[in-house]
Amino acid sequence: MVQVNSAYWQNVVDEAQNHPAVAGLDKLPFFSMAPMEAVTDSVFRRVVAHAGGPDVYFTEFTNARSITHPKAKFSAQARLHVEDGEKMPVAQIWGNRKIDFETATQDLKEHGYQAIDINMGCPSGTIIKNGGGCDMIRHFDDAAAVIEGAKTSGLPISAKTRLGFNELDTFETWIPFLLKQDIPLLTVHVRSRKEMSKVPAHYEYIDRLVQLRDEIAPHTLLQINGDIKDRNDGLELVRQHPGVDGIMIGRGIFENPFAFEDHPREHTLDETLSLLRMQLDLYDTFNAQYGPLNFKKLRRFFKIYVRHFNYASDLRIALMESKDTTEARELLDNFEKQWTAHNAANTIAITQED
Ligand SMILES: Cc1cc2nc3c(=O)[nH]c(=O)nc-3n(C[C@H](O)[C@H](O)[C@H](O)COP(=O)(O)O)c2cc1C
Repeated sequence: MVQVNSAYWQNVVDEAQNHPAVAGLDKLPFFSMAPMEAVTDSVFRRVVAHAGGPDVYFTEFTNARSITHPKAKFSAQARLHVEDGEKMPVAQIWGNRKIDFETATQDLKEHGYQAIDINMGCPSGTIIKNGGGCDMIRHFDDAAAVIEGAKTSGLPISAKTRLGFNELDTFETWIPFLLKQDIPLLTVHVRSRKEMSKVPAHYEYIDRLVQLRDEIAPHTLLQINGDIKDRNDGLELVRQHPGVDGIMIGRGIFENPFAFEDHPREHTLDETLSLLRMQLDLYDTFNAQYGPLNFKKLRRFFKIYVRHFNYASDLRIALMESKDTTEARELLDNFEKQWTAHNAANTIAITQED
C-alpha cells in the first residue's frame, strides 16, 4: 500500500477505507469528483454531497494570476468560495509563471485550502495559448517551475494531466518527469490533448502507469480519470488494474447525480427533483453574494435531474425555457401537482367493506 508523504492525502486514503468492504479489493480506492469549469462550484458540490458525494472534491480551475490580481479577484473568489460546513475541496489552478503560483498558493492557504492541484491537462486553445493546461506537456521546464513555485506554500501540490499532447506515447517521458517532481498525487486523464474526449479512454495504459509510479515514485498516489461512470465502474477498474489509488469521475455525474453512492439504487422522482430544488435555492444565495450570475448556465444542469421518468422531456423543455429560478420553481410545483393527481387517478382504493 502506498505511504504518501502528505498528511492530507494519507488521510484521504485512510478515510476511503471507511466505505463498505468490496469483494476482491484489499484496499479501497478513494473517489473524487473531477474539476469542471462552470460546474463544480460550491453550489454544485453541495448538491452532490447531499446525493452521497465522493471522498474528495476539486474546484473548477482558476487562473493562478487572477487569485491576487486586483481586477480579477472578485470572480476568482466566486470560483473559490467554500461554504461553512462544506468539505474543503482541493483548489485547482492553472498558469505558467512560477511567481503566480507562489502568490496564489499562499493566498489559498490563508483562505483555508489544504491542498492544491495544478492543471496540466486542459485542452482549450485559449489556455494553451497562455502557456497553461496541456501546454505544460510541451514545456517540461514550466511544469517543474510552477510545481516548485506552488510548493513554497508548504501545501501538498498535485498535478492533473493527460498522456500526451499529440502523441500518446509522450507519456513515457512526461509521466516519469512528473513523478520525479516529488508530488503526493498524480491524476492522469488517459487520453492525449489531440483526442480531446472524442475517443474511449485508454485503459490499456493503466498498468504501465502503475509500473512507472512503482519504480519512480512509490510515495505518489496514482489517480485515473476518463469515462468512469460511477463508483461501481471505478471499483471494477481498480479490480482490473491493482495499484490504482484513486478514481476521478467527471461527466458521470451528469448522467447520475448519485454516481458516488456506496449502494446504488433506484431513486424516486421526489428525491431527484429535490436535488434540483436544492440547487435552485443555493444558486439564489450564491447569486446574491457574487451575482449577477448567468441563469443560462444554471439551465444546463436541469437535464441531470429531469430524465428517466414519464413526461421528463416535457418538463425539461419547459424548464430550459424558464427565465429565472422563480419560474423554474413554478414549473416544478405545477408538474408535481399534476403528477400527484395523475398517480392518484391510477390508484385503486382498497377499503374493507363492513
Ligand atoms: C464541462 C467540463 C469542464 C471541465 N473543466 C475542467 C477544469 O476546470 N479542470 C480540469 O482539470 N479538467 C476539466 N475538465 C475535464 C474533466 O476534469 C475530466 O478530466 C474529463 O471530463 C474526463 O473525465 P470524465 O470522462 O470522467 O468526464 C472539464 C470537463 C468538462 C466536461
